Amino acid sequence: MNEIKIFSPATVANVACGFDVLGFCLDSVGDVMVIRKIDKRGIYITKIEGFDLPYEAELNVAGVSALAMYDALKPDCGFEIEIYKNIKPGSGIGSSAASAVGSVFGMNELLGRPYNKTQLTAFAIKGEALASKCEHADNLAPAMFGGFTLVKSVNPLEILEIPMPDDLYATIIHPQIEIKTSEARAILPKDIPLSDAITQWANFGSLIHALHTSNYELMQKSLHDAIIEPYRSKLIPYYNDVKTVVLKAGALGCGISGSGPSIFTLNKGIETANNVKDAMKHVYSNTGIDFDIHVSKINSGGIKIL
Ligand code: HSE
Repeated sequence: MNEIKIFSPATVANVACGFDVLGFCLDSVGDVMVIRKIDKRGIYITKIEGFDLPYEAELNVAGVSALAMYDALKPDCGFEIEIYKNIKPGSGIGSSAASAVGSVFGMNELLGRPYNKTQLTAFAIKGEALASKCEHADNLAPAMFGGFTLVKSVNPLEILEIPMPDDLYATIIHPQIEIKTSEARAILPKDIPLSDAITQWANFGSLIHALHTSNYELMQKSLHDAIIEPYRSKLIPYYNDVKTVVLKAGALGCGISGSGPSIFTLNKGIETANNVKDAMKHVYSNTGIDFDIHVSKINSGGIKIL
C-alpha cells in the first residue's frame, strides 16, 4: 500500500471542568487527508483545499507532526500529504489537532504500524504546539483514540480512555468569528483561588465517575467550569444567552469548546440534541453573526481509514 485516505475527526477539548486534560470526539465533522509514500525522501504538502494554510512542512501543523515522526524513524522513503480541510482553523473544535494526528496516523499505516496510538499522539503534540504555542493533547487524544480521553500526563504522555453512555450526543454552535488558541490562553490567570480549584476538581472527578456509571444526573451536576469560563466567555458574543436557552431546552451541560468560539452541549439522546440545536439557532439568528451548528453522536472510534 502506497497511498491512504483518512478521516480525521473534530473534537471538543476541556469539556467544562477538564481544562487541558479532557476531550471527546465528534463524528459528523472532520478533515479528509491523503498520505502517499514516495521514493524521494522528506515530507511534502502537495495540496490544501478548504482554507489558506502554509505548504512549507515546517510551518504547517500536519507537516510539523509528520516531521517529528519522520526524524525519529528515518524511513527510507518520503511522504506527500494532501489536506482537505473542513474544520475551520480557530473554530475551537480541534482543527489543528485533526491535521496533526492525520499525517502521523496515515504515515504509520503506510509503514506497517511501527508506533502505537500514544506514540503517534506524542509526535502530533509537536504539530499542535505550532498552532497553540503550548504542548497539550486534549484535542489530539480523542481524535486519535475516539470517545472521551483523559490526558493523565503530557511528559511522559499517558492517555486514559474513559467509558461513556451509548446515547450521548453533542450539539455545537460555531459562531463565525476566529479566536486564536494562543490568545485565549494568554488571557488566563497564572494563579487561581484554592476555593475555585476545589470546586473544579470535585466537578471533574464526579464527571469522570458519571461517565463511567452512565449517571446523567451526576453528569448534569458536574458540567461546570469555575476557572476558565469566566475569562473566555467574554470573547464569545451571546455566550450567556446561548447557555441559558440550551439548559432550558434540556442540555446536560454547556461550555466553551476548547478555546472557543464554539460552544458545546452534551445531551441525552438525539431528540434533546436537536431541541438544543433549535434553541441555539434561535439566539444566533437575530445577531447578524453567521454560524454553523453540528449535532453529533460521540464518535467512539476516532481517526479512521476511508
Ligand atoms: N485545552 C486547550 C485550551 C484546547 O483550552 O487552550 C485548545 O487547543
